[in-house]
Amino acid sequence: RKFNVAVVGATGAVGEELFRVLKEYNFPINKLVPLASARSAGSKIEFDDKEITVLELTETCFAENEVEIAFFSAGGSVSEKFAKYAVEAGAVVIDNTSHFRMEPNVPLVVPEVNPEDIALWKETGIIANPNCSTIQMVLSLKPLDELYGIKRVDVSTYQAVSGAGKTGMEELVRQMQDFFAFQLEDAEKKAFAHQIALNVIPQIDVAQPNGFTKEEMKMVKETQKIMHKDIQVAATCVRVPVLRSHSESITVTFNDGVEVDVEAVRESLERFENVEVIDDLANNAYPMPIISTDTDITYVGRIRRDVYQPNIVHFFNVADQVRVGAATNAVRIALKWIELGE
Ligand code: A2P
Repeated sequence: RKFNVAVVGATGAVGEELFRVLKEYNFPINKLVPLASARSAGSKIEFDDKEITVLELTETCFAENEVEIAFFSAGGSVSEKFAKYAVEAGAVVIDNTSHFRMEPNVPLVVPEVNPEDIALWKETGIIANPNCSTIQMVLSLKPLDELYGIKRVDVSTYQAVSGAGKTGMEELVRQMQDFFAFQLEDAEKKAFAHQIALNVIPQIDVAQPNGFTKEEMKMVKETQKIMHKDIQVAATCVRVPVLRSHSESITVTFNDGVEVDVEAVRESLERFENVEVIDDLANNAYPMPIISTDTDITYVGRIRRDVYQPNIVHFFNVADQVRVGAATNAVRIALKWIELGE
C-alpha cells in the first residue's frame, strides 16, 4: 500500500534531503505534500523528475491532503504548534525536532537500536527522531553494550554547521569567501555566536544551570532513553568548520572486570547494521567527514584499548549529520513503522 506523505520544512536542509532519501529508498508514496512557511508557498521542489508545488503549512493542510505520514523538520516551535493538527487528521508524525523527545509516552527511536519502541506511537501519534549527535553515537554504543555492558561514556564532538540548518551552511561558506576577500573581520554572524570559519566553538545550544550546554544534556538524556539504561554520559559539544558530517571522539568505560579485546570490539561494530569500521592507522585509514558525507553509514575507527584500564576503549565515530543524523533516520523510522503494521 502507498501513503500520502507530508514534509514540513520542505525547503530546509533536512527537508530537501528527505526528498532524496525517500526516492532512494523507494518509499511507498501515493501523494507527496511539501509544506513550508508562507514565504516559500508556491515555490517548487523536484521529486522523481516531477515538480511539486510547496504549500503553506496551516492548521487544515493535513486533513485537506489526507496526510498519513508527516515528517516535521521546521524547528521545535513549528512542531509544538502544528504536530497536533497532523495527528488529528490521522497521520503519524515523525518529528526531527527536540520538542517531544523527552516526553515519556513519545518513543525516541533509532531503528537499528530500539525498533521495539515504535509500538508506543499509538499513545500520541508521534515518533521522535533523536538529536543528530546522539543517533550516530548510539549506533556504535549498542553493539558494545551487548558485548560487554557499558557503564560510562565520555564524548567530545566535532559538529558540522549543517546542524544549524541552511543558515549555518551558508554562514560558513560566506565567511570562507570573505576570508579570501580579506573581509573576514566584518563577516556577518547569524547562525553562530562567533566566527566559524577557521575557528572552533565549544558551545552548541544554550547554557544549562549545571555548566553543560543543552546539546550536551540532550546527548545524556536521549542516550539513556534510547538504550533503556542509566549509562553515565559526559559530553563536550563543539562546532567546527565542516559542512555536513559530525565526528565524535568517544571513550567507553565498561563494567568492572571487563578486559577489552580490541578485535572483539571491531567485530561487534562491523556486524552491526549500517555501521562500518575503517581502522588501519598505519596506512592512514580512519573515518573522516569527507568519507561519510552523502552516505547512510556511521563509520568507526581509531579503536584502541586504554593504556591504564583494561575496561576502557577509545574510538572515533563519523556520520553525515543531514542523512544519518536526520533525514535517513526519519525515513528508516517510517519504513519500520510500516513494516510493524502501522
Ligand atoms: P521557509 O523556507 O519557508 O522559511 P533549515 O533547517 O534549513 O533552516 O530550514 C527550516 C525549514 O523550516 C524551512 O523549510 C522553512 O521554510 C521551514 N519553516 C521555518 N519556520 C516555519 C514556519 N513558521 N512555518 C512553516 N515552515 C517553517
